[in-house]
Amino acid sequence: MNILKFDSEAKLNETAARIITSTVQVNPSAVLGLATGGTPIGIYKQLVQDYKEGLVSFKNVSTYNLDEYVGLSPDHHQSYSYYMNENLFKHVDVDASRTHIPSGLADNLDEECRQYDERIQAAGRVDIQLLGLGHNGHIGFNEPAEELSSSTHVVNLAAETKQANARFFTENEEVPGQAITMGVGTILKAKMLMLVVKGADKAEIVKRALTGPITTQCPASLLQTHPQLVVLVDEAAGSLLR
Ligand code: GLP
Repeated sequence: MNILKFDSEAKLNETAARIITSTVQVNPSAVLGLATGGTPIGIYKQLVQDYKEGLVSFKNVSTYNLDEYVGLSPDHHQSYSYYMNENLFKHVDVDASRTHIPSGLADNLDEECRQYDERIQAAGRVDIQLLGLGHNGHIGFNEPAEELSSSTHVVNLAAETKQANARFFTENEEVPGQAITMGVGTILKAKMLMLVVKGADKAEIVKRALTGPITTQCPASLLQTHPQLVVLVDEAAGSLLR
């Protein structure tokens, strides 16, 4: 595991974006695993800038997102489809037919999960998987539990996850109670994992995830088993890490 600590958010975002752009420069048809949430927004901004400056083209890449809320349509302002379009896809030359996000509106959600895994498998291995970290140690939407699902599945969101994500919804909107998420097994199959963590409120959990026992009660702790894990933290999130 490689832990990189940054004293400025701009430098962190630049480095994370450079790791992604260099993956695409080396392999223009790279398979990218993408994440949502507040953490990657600055990274996506930097990727858009890199694209506009001609440093990288996403024309031939394929993308697979970690998760999506159940019940939100792609044009709902809090769906992860909408987020990806607004923050990245519509600003770069990615081919929309090669961007993949599970559909939270599918009639048969289990079938949607099965097909999503099949699509990822057919694409070959994900070259680099971007990950954020939930306050309870979740990755994607894999919540702490006695047992974790390996493949893509439907999950009931923990109360604290709903509460943390409520900040993105308007007052009258309810945060969906369920989501589709890639499983931990699917995530761990990626060639390289890039975990990005920002803010003092994540200092404890990032320490637990990276240096504590490997346990399903902290899904991110399973990342310790991956041979190519790079972790980017700001000073605040990394304050408890040596
Ligand atoms: C959300 C997402 C995760 C994300 C995490 C942290 O619930 N499903 O993929 O990494 O929570 O989000 P944030 O970056 O906004 O703190």
